[in-house]
Amino acid sequence: MTEPYKIKVCESIKLIPRSERETVLKEAGYNVFRIPADKVYIDLLSDSGTSAMSTRQWASMLLGDESFAYQKSYYRLIDTVKSIFGFKHVLPIHQGRAGEHILFSLMVNQGDCVPNNMHFETTRANIEYQGGKAVNLVVDEAYDPKSEFPFKGNIDLNKLKSLIEDVGKQRIPLCIITLTNNTGAGQPVSIENVCAVKDILSKYDIPLFFDACRFAENAFLIREREQGYANKSIREIIKELFSYADGCIMSAKKDALSNIGGFIAMNNGDLIKQVENLILLIEGFPAHGGLAGRDLEAIAAGLEEAIDEEHLTHRVGQVRYLGERLINNGIPVFKPIGGHAVYIDTSEFLPNIPKDKFPSQALLAAIYLEGGVRTASLGSEFSNTQSGHPLELVRLSVPRRVYTREHLDYVVDVVTKVYKKRKTIKGLRLVHEPKFLKDFGVQFEKL
Ligand code: F0G
Repeated sequence: MTEPYKIKVCESIKLIPRSERETVLKEAGYNVFRIPADKVYIDLLSDSGTSAMSTRQWASMLLGDESFAYQKSYYRLIDTVKSIFGFKHVLPIHQGRAGEHILFSLMVNQGDCVPNNMHFETTRANIEYQGGKAVNLVVDEAYDPKSEFPFKGNIDLNKLKSLIEDVGKQRIPLCIITLTNNTGAGQPVSIENVCAVKDILSKYDIPLFFDACRFAENAFLIREREQGYANKSIREIIKELFSYADGCIMSAKKDALSNIGGFIAMNNGDLIKQVENLILLIEGFPAHGGLAGRDLEAIAAGLEEAIDEEHLTHRVGQVRYLGERLINNGIPVFKPIGGHAVYIDTSEFLPNIPKDKFPSQALLAAIYLEGGVRTASLGSEFSNTQSGHPLELVRLSVPRRVYTREHLDYVVDVVTKVYKKRKTIKGLRLVHEPKFLKDFGVQFEKL
């Protein structure tokens, strides 16, 4: 689909020479997270906080009410969230991981187990920080990059039942479902699966929370792939999907098209009071949760745009375009293509580099060196360490409304060139490893 927007403001980008890229990589310890952004030509590191905001969002930021307490902008955000998601209580937070930290410090105790289809790195780290265990219960198809199973984000119901029987319901304070499953290649979860999970959890009084940051893309993929939803609106699908959850944590930096922000929403009136008190202690006044009034406005406007049908058709279409072109060039891409990013199967791209020589990190470095394109690794050595995670993926995230088809064609050319010389790529040696969220700060040297 052609872009359903035109471009009013532009930001110049530059491809620095290869020799400079070599120096930059070395200085960054071969960790592309550490490369200064102005040394990157096309930045597919993350779809988080990287969206281009609309004229409507920028205009509403000027209407931001910066009063200390219960600003107009707070009510605008709360009303928007309630109307889209249907939860009774909503509180803003400054981003997703703040919500994780706050919710888990209230709900998770030493020795507890928290199941999820697959935990994103910050979710896992925040559970472990409370002394809990983060358990991935995604269906087996999720670990097969070639399977075309349409809902590879689904929870395996037998795994869920066994976990509850093994550890006991008193050791499971909540179950999370991540929409879409970012650590497992951005794959959606079906409504049928959510219903079945909720059924099981209800028997044991275990609450269900969504990690909702890519809720709109998940709803779009439900409409495309799940029987009975082809004629429903995105808004209707979201309403139904969220009616099965007791609450959610939302990073507004993804689908909500905002550069910062998020919220926690739920129906439990007692728990939200405790959340409110903790927000007051560590984030800011609960009506803004560490954000400015203008940020709340940008999120409210962004949420409305996130569920716009044309926006979603173009957005998911752009990701699919990138993925299909790579597949046509023979690149091993995780299938089916997810909502926000294309994931390359590193194990097939670089079969000769063993896991202890960090093949995904070596591939990120090679792609940057070839064409100044920055990508990320997910589900590799540094994420999901405790689960013995078998996937080894490089993620090409597409920021929302930022790049044109020509930019994506350039990326296809760069990755294809790297693929043609893949036999010359060598592994890396670890020289520094931080305690938490290792992939953001890890450093290597060339072998
Ligand atoms: N949950 C999921 C599924 C995420 O993808 C992220 C962030 C978070 C929670 C945490 O939210 O960044 O606002 O604190 N994902 C980014 C990414 C960093 O690149 O995928 P946050």
